[in-house]
Amino acid sequence: MRHDIIGPDGPPPRPRPSCLLTLVLFWAAALPAAEPLPRFTGAPSCSSSLCHGGAGELRHQVAIWQKQDIHSRAYNTLVNARSAQIAAALGIPEAVTSSRCTSCHAPFHDVPKSAFLAETIKANEGVSCESCHGPAEKWLRSHTRSDYSHADRVLAGLRNLKHLYVRANSCVACHQTLEPALTAAGHPELLFEMDGQAVSQPKHWREKGDWHGPKAWLVGQAVALREMSAQLNVATNPGEKLREPWAATLWLLQKLDGLDSALPALNATVTAAQAHPVADLLARRAADLDWSSALTRDIFVRLVATHLDFADTSTPRVIQARRAERLVLALDRLAGPLENSLRAQLEPDLKELFALAQSRPDFMPEKFAHALHQLARKLATKSGAR
Ligand code: HEC
Ligand code: HEC
Ligand code: HEC
Repeated sequence: MRHDIIGPDGPPPRPRPSCLLTLVLFWAAALPAAEPLPRFTGAPSCSSSLCHGGAGELRHQVAIWQKQDIHSRAYNTLVNARSAQIAAALGIPEAVTSSRCTSCHAPFHDVPKSAFLAETIKANEGVSCESCHGPAEKWLRSHTRSDYSHADRVLAGLRNLKHLYVRANSCVACHQTLEPALTAAGHPELLFEMDGQAVSQPKHWREKGDWHGPKAWLVGQAVALREMSAQLNVATNPGEKLREPWAATLWLLQKLDGLDSALPALNATVTAAQAHPVADLLARRAADLDWSSALTRDIFVRLVATHLDFADTSTPRVIQARRAERLVLALDRLAGPLENSLRAQLEPDLKELFALAQSRPDFMPEKFAHALHQLARKLATKSGAR
C-alpha cells in the first residue's frame, strides 16, 4: 500500500506534477501494457563479501548499515516498550503488524509478496538498502559491470540519490509527515533537516567533489515545507502541532528570497496551498544550483539578521519558539563551512542560542534576540560582512 515510499522517486509532488513528470505519466499511460514494477531482492542479495558485504571502504556498506545505522534496527523498535505504549494508546493490537507503524519502520511488511523476487525477504530487515536505493531487480546484475556508469545504473532503475532533490524526497517520505494521532499517542515529533540528518546517519558512502552541506540543508528545508504544506492542506482540523512548525519553516525560507535569481520567492505566500508548489520548485532549483561559499555566507548573514524579528513583541511567544528551533539548526549547519577562525569565534554565541532554544515553554524571545544581535555584531566586525 505504501509502495510509494520505496517506489522509484520518492513521493510524487502533489498537487501538480512538473511538466516532465506529467510527460512521463502520459508516456506511461500510452504504453500498450503496464510494465510490471521491478521487484525487491532483499538486503542479503547485496551482502556477498565481493559486493557490499566485505571489508574496506569499497565494500563495507552492509557492515556499516548493520552495526552502526539505526535504520537496520527500525523494525526492532516496534517491539520495545515505548512502541507498546504508543500502540496501546492508539488501540493497535501490535505495532509490528500495523501498517501505521511498518510503513516507515519496516517497509517490506506492506509490500505484497508478488513484489518480492525471493520468498526469504523479511520485514525485519527494517529500513534496508532498497528502501533508499529502490527495488533492485532490474539493476542488481548489471550494476556491477565495469563498463557501466552511474547514469547507466540510474537508467536501469537505481534511484539517483546523488541528486539532492531525489535524495530529499527519499528521506522525507519517512522523516516529516506523521499522522497527528501518532504524535498525540506519544510518538516523537518528526522534523526533517537533511544536512544534519545526513551527518548523523553513519555514512556508508563518501560525498563527491562539489558537496555542500548548506545546499543539502536548503533542499531539505524546502522539501520539508512542501510536505508540511501538503499535510496542512488536506487536514480537516489542523492543530497547532501542524500549523506552527509549518509557519516557522515558511518564515525561515522567506528570509532567503532574492538569494539567487534562479530561486522562486516565498514572500507572497500566505496559505499552505500557495506554499506547496513554490516550495517544490525551490527544492528542485536549489538542487540544481552551482553552490558557492558566498551563498552559504549570504544565508548565514540573513538568518542572523532575524534578531529584529525576535525583538518584535507583537509575535506570539510560541511562534517565536518554533522559529528559534528551526533557526538554531540552520545556523549550526551553515556555520560548519565558514572559515575556521570565524567559526571558532562564533562558537560560544551559537552554543548560547542553542541553549536558549532548548525548551519551548521557557522560551524568552528578548534574550534570544539579544544573543542573536550580539552574534550579528560580531559577524559584521570580524568578517567585514554587510
Ligand atoms: C522507509 C523509511 C525511511 C527512509 C526512506 C529513511 N529513513 Fe531515516 N529513519 C527511519 C526510521 C523509522 C527511523 C527511526 C529508527 C528507530 O529509532 O527505530 C529513522 C532514523 C533516522 C536517523 C536517526 C534519528 C534522527 O532523526 O536523527 C537518521 C539520522 C536518519 N534516519 C536519516 C535518514 C536519511 C538521511 C535518509 C535519506 C537518505 C533516511 N533517513 C531515509 C525511516 C526512514
Ligand atoms: C512517517 C514515518 C513513521 C511512522 C508512520 C512511524 N514512525 Fe516511529 N519513528 C519514525 C522516525 C523517523 C523516528 C526517529 C525520530 C527521531 O529520532 O527524531 C521514529 C521513532 C520512533 C520511536 C522512538 C525511537 C526509539 O528507539 O525508542 C518509537 C518508539 C517509534 N518510532 C514507534 C513507532 C510506532 C509504534 C509507530 C506506529 C504506531 C510508528 N513509530 C510509526 C518514523 C515513523
Ligand atoms: C537510509 C537510506 C539508505 C540506506 C538504508 C542505504 N543507503 Fe546506500 N546510500 C544512501 C545515500 C544517501 C547514498 C549517497 C548517494 C550515492 O552515492 O548514491 C548512498 C550510497 C551508497 C553507495 C555508494 C557508495 C559511494 O561511496 O559511492 C553504495 C554502494 C550503497 N549506498 C550501498 C548500500 C547498501 C548495500 C545498503 C544496504 C546494506 C544501503 N546502501 C543502504 C542511502 C542509503
